Amino acid sequence: MMDAALDKTLRDAAALFRRSRYAVALTGAGLSAESGIPTYRGTGGVWTRFGEPTIDGWDLFCQDPEAWWKLSIEHRVGGSEFSAAIDRAVPNAAHYAMAELEQMGRLAHVITQNIDNLQNVAGSRHVTEIHGNRAKARCMSCGLRYRLESIDLATLPPHCAECGGVLKNDVVMFGEPIPADALEECYRQAFRADLFLVVGTSAVVYPAAEFPLMAKRRGAPLIEINPEETALSDLADVIIRGPAAVTVPALVELLLIP
Ligand code: APR
Repeated sequence: MMDAALDKTLRDAAALFRRSRYAVALTGAGLSAESGIPTYRGTGGVWTRFGEPTIDGWDLFCQDPEAWWKLSIEHRVGGSEFSAAIDRAVPNAAHYAMAELEQMGRLAHVITQNIDNLQNVAGSRHVTEIHGNRAKARCMSCGLRYRLESIDLATLPPHCAECGGVLKNDVVMFGEPIPADALEECYRQAFRADLFLVVGTSAVVYPAAEFPLMAKRRGAPLIEINPEETALSDLADVIIRGPAAVTVPALVELLLIP
């Protein structure tokens, strides 16, 4: 049984969804928290506990892609706890509820900062992975993406079958430019949005955090789902203070009522 205040915020959010014609969502690590993947910041985040990682991954890759691939294969860059958690993770009720919002025609597009592939596995079709997808590789020349398990790692670094360019894991590293195709799609969605749902992100990383702000500036209402306050809380029209795996399915339930 939900408390009355949380219930009211969910009803307010459902009313905004009913009026919307093109809702867009920005999701972050908090959406996958209940799949056992640690967040970066906030309570219990890996960076909160162990500090931020070195930010030289992109420089290392550019200097010596072969060495980077050898390290990546041997040590699975990204930290053992984090990689192991993602390897084990399956979509939680929040991922499925986000996919259901799309299937109901209530959510047009998801911009996710998560690299865990879980929103795709949960069934969403209209997803832009602004920070990449750890299950994919990407050509540094033409941008073509491959399923990671489909590329031949006999010779390192692997090369693009289409253009011969060097392949890299699709995950965007610190210092690496956001892939142009993903960035363009995010701006396109932010311009079209007449409602913005922000779920499970501290909203401190740009350009991802810019998209809800762009929509808000154009007059689109902003809904935040997060157990804790974030950088966007002061701008939110509706704040749902609860875990995504409880609150997003509850929102879907309300929208299923005719
Ligand atoms: N449900 C909803 N939100 C949750 C839950 C939950 N069960 N648990 C935690 N959160 C919230 C936290 O309160 C926090 O606001 O999820 C947010 C996670 O914030 P971050 O750890 O900063 O993750 P994120 O916002 O996705 O980080 C953005 O920063 O580190 C880079 O590239 C990385 O994509 C990442 C980007």
